[in-house]
Amino acid sequence: MDNLKAEALRHQILDLVAEYHKQAFPPRPFLGGISTVPVSGKVFDENELQHLVDSSLDFWLTTGRFADQFEKGFAKVMGMRHAMLCNSGSSANLLAVSALMSPRLGKRALKEGDEVVTVAAGFPTTVNPIIQNRLVPVFVDAELATYDASLESIEAAIGPKTKAIVMAHTLGNPFDVEGVMRLAEEHKLWVVEDTCDAVGAKFAGKPVGSFGDLSTSFYPAHHMTMGEGGCVLVKKASMKKIVESLRDWGRDCWCPTGEENTCNRRFDWQLGELPYGYDHKYIYSHIGYNLKMTDMQAAIGVAQLDKLPEFIKARNRNWKRLRDGLKALDEFFILPEATKNSEPSWFGFALSVRSEAPFERLEVVQHLESRRIGTRQLFGGNLLRQPAYLNIPMRVVGDLKNADIIANSTFWIGVYPGLTDEMIDFMIATVHEFVDSRR
Ligand SMILES: Cc1ncc(COP(=O)(O)O)c(C=O)c1O
Repeated sequence: MDNLKAEALRHQILDLVAEYHKQAFPPRPFLGGISTVPVSGKVFDENELQHLVDSSLDFWLTTGRFADQFEKGFAKVMGMRHAMLCNSGSSANLLAVSALMSPRLGKRALKEGDEVVTVAAGFPTTVNPIIQNRLVPVFVDAELATYDASLESIEAAIGPKTKAIVMAHTLGNPFDVEGVMRLAEEHKLWVVEDTCDAVGAKFAGKPVGSFGDLSTSFYPAHHMTMGEGGCVLVKKASMKKIVESLRDWGRDCWCPTGEENTCNRRFDWQLGELPYGYDHKYIYSHIGYNLKMTDMQAAIGVAQLDKLPEFIKARNRNWKRLRDGLKALDEFFILPEATKNSEPSWFGFALSVRSEAPFERLEVVQHLESRRIGTRQLFGGNLLRQPAYLNIPMRVVGDLKNADIIANSTFWIGVYPGLTDEMIDFMIATVHEFVDSRR
């Protein structure tokens, strides 16, 4: 079969895929109380399916042309110079923090026992890479309503051993990253922004994820999907090499997959105590991992990236509709607020049951779930109360009072682009119905 015939078949297959999409995924009517209202989900059309099949017909399988395309496009969206895909948001965080330990950074490299400021109320894999690298997390509290740490608490946590700040923009709401960068400059600290929940958010008019030294994105059920996936973004080519090395087994070689001699001196290196001419492809300058993404996933990402601006608008629209519809319940719930000077890209709508309310979080959550409205806790709540963290080496600044409130009283509901106005109105009505039954 010649290539023209193969190309014609490819087009035919992709046309059929579009037809398949129409038949297999028709819109479904919403029936309040019967249909589910998930907290998050995939929003896709025939394009994502076509991209997926297109890449599978290449049968390249590992990172390839779609990953390249995605990385270039995504770096631009995020306002960073280099984007490197990996297999999850957690892996992206692991790569970002591990990169700070690289001997290539010389005196600025983090060493075992150095301290890293982070937040107690959050997702575990924002914090885990700190512990996995034998660094010491210094936990600060979050504010209620914004669910981010205040600049004052971050500043108070910085001590003589502090070398970095690693924090997430919680639920799409930016922390004061401008202030954090000021502190970082003053104290010579690295900053890693975990942007997994906040792609598209801005602080002082600039995309979050573009302030720090490294940033990481995105959990797939979040603003875009690839099935599973993550990305590390950096400004400097030297940092790009470190992250790629750690992602790709620790190798020193920077050849793209499928290439052999990008450096033009494949058999002309002498590194470590290896013999001269040892194949550069098999020289390892870091204790690395293999955290690469497949091209099928990246292909879906390319189609999703086109939709990102609409996704962000829809998330923010849904959030605002919930905010307006629930504002009369302010005496029962702490309603979410955007951080000053920010434009969030909301991941969820958080509600904290006030201590004076005549009901507990569990009761509201159970009521919503009984009406098929999905709910989630604010991730690990106070991580320090979790079994895995009871005996870790760490330092705590302040009393983490709000992290405990978040663990006891906070939950969130969805704002993802797959939710319709009808669903949002049903969510609002269901929360009102519950509160009215308890007044
Ligand atoms: C803030 C934050 N960081 C990291 C992650 C981990 O992402 P992944 O599930 O892709 O590993 C999540 C996942 O929910 C998250 O919310």
